[in-house]
Amino acid sequence: MKIKNVVVIGSGTMGCGIAAQLCNANIPVTLLDLTTEITEKAKERIFKSRPPLLIDKSKIDNISIGNINDNFDTVSQADWIVEAVVERIDIKHNIYEKIFKSRKNGSIVSSNTSSIPIKILSEKLSEDEKKDFCITHFFNPVRYMDLLEIVKSENNDLEKINSLKTFCEKDLGKGTIVCNDTPGFLGNRIGVFAMQVAMTEAFRMKLTIEEADAVFGRPMGIPKTGVFGLYDLIGIDLMADVLKSFIKELPENDEFQKVAKEIPLVKKLIETGYTGRKGKGGFYRINKTDNKKTLEGINLENGEYSISKKFNLGSERMDIVNLINRDDKYGEYAWSVISKIIKYASSLVPGITDKFNDIDEAMRLGFNWTKGPFEMLKEIGVKNFFDKIDSFENNKFLENLSKTKDENFYGERQLYTDLETLGKIKPKATKIDKNNSAEIYRFNDFNIVEFTTKANALDYDSMDSLKNATDKPLIIINEAMQFSAGVNLSYTMDFADKGDFKSIEKFVKYFQETCKHLKYSKYPVVSAPSGLALGGGFEVLCQSNFVVSHTNIVVGLVETIVGLIPAGGGCKEMLWRWSQTDEARNDPDYAPLKVFEIIGYAKTATSPIEAEPFKYLKPDDKKIMSRNSLLSVSKKIIEQNKDFKIPQEASFQFSGKVVYEKMIKMLEKLYNDKTILDHGVQVGKELAYVLSGGDTTVDKKLSEDDLYKLELDAFMRLIETQKTQDRIKHTLATSKPLVN
Ligand code: NAI
Repeated sequence: MKIKNVVVIGSGTMGCGIAAQLCNANIPVTLLDLTTEITEKAKERIFKSRPPLLIDKSKIDNISIGNINDNFDTVSQADWIVEAVVERIDIKHNIYEKIFKSRKNGSIVSSNTSSIPIKILSEKLSEDEKKDFCITHFFNPVRYMDLLEIVKSENNDLEKINSLKTFCEKDLGKGTIVCNDTPGFLGNRIGVFAMQVAMTEAFRMKLTIEEADAVFGRPMGIPKTGVFGLYDLIGIDLMADVLKSFIKELPENDEFQKVAKEIPLVKKLIETGYTGRKGKGGFYRINKTDNKKTLEGINLENGEYSISKKFNLGSERMDIVNLINRDDKYGEYAWSVISKIIKYASSLVPGITDKFNDIDEAMRLGFNWTKGPFEMLKEIGVKNFFDKIDSFENNKFLENLSKTKDENFYGERQLYTDLETLGKIKPKATKIDKNNSAEIYRFNDFNIVEFTTKANALDYDSMDSLKNATDKPLIIINEAMQFSAGVNLSYTMDFADKGDFKSIEKFVKYFQETCKHLKYSKYPVVSAPSGLALGGGFEVLCQSNFVVSHTNIVVGLVETIVGLIPAGGGCKEMLWRWSQTDEARNDPDYAPLKVFEIIGYAKTATSPIEAEPFKYLKPDDKKIMSRNSLLSVSKKIIEQNKDFKIPQEASFQFSGKVVYEKMIKMLEKLYNDKTILDHGVQVGKELAYVLSGGDTTVDKKLSEDDLYKLELDAFMRLIETQKTQDRIKHTLATSKPLVN
């Protein structure tokens, strides 16, 4: 079955998200709601959404809109009809009645429900209709959340479910897991349970919200929002509704019931409008007094707010074993939470799925956990786990494991997909090197480098791994959310604080050397980015020979924001790309001026399609919807480039002072308009000097090394200034830019 035409009914948050993702995949989609006015507004919301639901504005043309009275005939054309209306069974039933009267034979009908069992949704359908009906549970925001759960019933035609799965995986790019019809399906059943355990244990053990979030966060391989931060993000009232639905759907003796009980403080927060970030605040709130914003945190015991201070646990690295073995209340909290999650998740096998592996993958895809509960168990070690755990009655999985004591119980990863992913390959590959910032794997006849730092920020060790891995064709790819957010600024500032600028210079030189090495090594280098590829991350990418980009990337050179200029070859590479245009052949100042604007304004693109007009990406760079396909596409490029030829070194001709003066005029205007302040001018001047070719004239040829040198010198002059250091410190502390 081919899906060429889709109707989405209900144009709220989820309907819009699903429709937008179909647009991204170039699938014509009709969005219907009660009135055309509602869908008109929905279409506008999709167009203007931030972060954007569309990978390119032009994709909006794939959408048609209408209302369920006048335009319902569109359903008869559709291969797939997705219902995403409000969570009310009477409304959903009415819609299904209409859909099954109009749809063409064999089309798939699915609901996006988050909590209503398929049994109830389909209770009024005929046996034949039930064959084509399932739940497709997308997560919000659809473009960015990888998980899609397809919930099947015993009536389904499995071949059809599989072809829908393939479509959702390959065309829509979702990590698609097929599961049984049980309350909350996979992701939410475990994810919400985990949040409730983390919360109730924090109350019980009298932890502050900052302490709990510091433990139930990065050290556990969980996003830094932790539990209370995540509660605020999702909405405290929405979470209460989710819990009510679990309480109603789950049997009384389910462990979930114990942690889902209403907490008086939470009830009070909802009643007083403290519903989280969308409300007056939540567990955290921003207090504005005298025009100053302060972050405050709630005291779980008395409900009062006071200034929130980030709690420092010592290390933010994921290290479950050390965390649970800590001899303090944080270790105790971590063990209590993790062991309860492992116990609960394993007690549900095989009820909610016979593949425990799918639970782990649902947690990765839907909650951005680095490891799911079973991988945590594997990391703790089977023996250690059973030495530490008190009881596990009525848990077949653990009873069994306690007998076999099989440390290798886990087996393969990512069983839900047939694609050859990084997650599947890693356990089979040989780890040939590892340092604090990256790991090198050898698989068949190529190498893989995976960065492993926070947001994959780059430092000396990251470069070392890249450089050491070029003795074979190389793929730079990672499982974490970000390809790389750029050079590690704390690492750089540590040297600057000590006045050790020599070490910074050494690092930047090594960065340049490594990037040059990537570009001109004997074997092809492929970068396969997903998420952030900013600053230094982009410099690695743009000096790789090939790029296989996920459609969800944020890419750009953003160094000027922190008072620096790109010095790992970013200026040079952008100049080269813009120098290859027809306009540049006629005008030596064309490329420098273009790049001055792009880097000067720190322009970013939020998809590979948006990246092309900036020349951050090239037309022949691959743009891939399915993240799971990045590795296989990269591999194919390597196979196709057995006779890879090292590219010729680039050379440049710029007008030096002539174009420099033009840039200075632009800076003066910005300064006079108060768009930039003193240091903005200084950074702009340094950038102008590099991009104009320095002390040169148009008849002189500059090499790549000349440009690397210009970048390095300008970078060093800037990092030594107090104002650049102020910018960096401010950004590190607040994640916001400082204008000075
Ligand atoms: P929403 O409240 O944002 O949008 C619902 C839309 O349905 C509205 O535009 C409304 O006008 C429309 N609608 C109501 N009655 C209708 C009818 N008879 N015919 C056509 N349209 C009608 O809701 P949201 O958040 O988009 O949720 C939709 C579904 O997705 C629900 O079943 C929800 O449980 C589920 N879901 C929601 C998630 C979320 O994060 N918001 C996540 C996953 C699933």
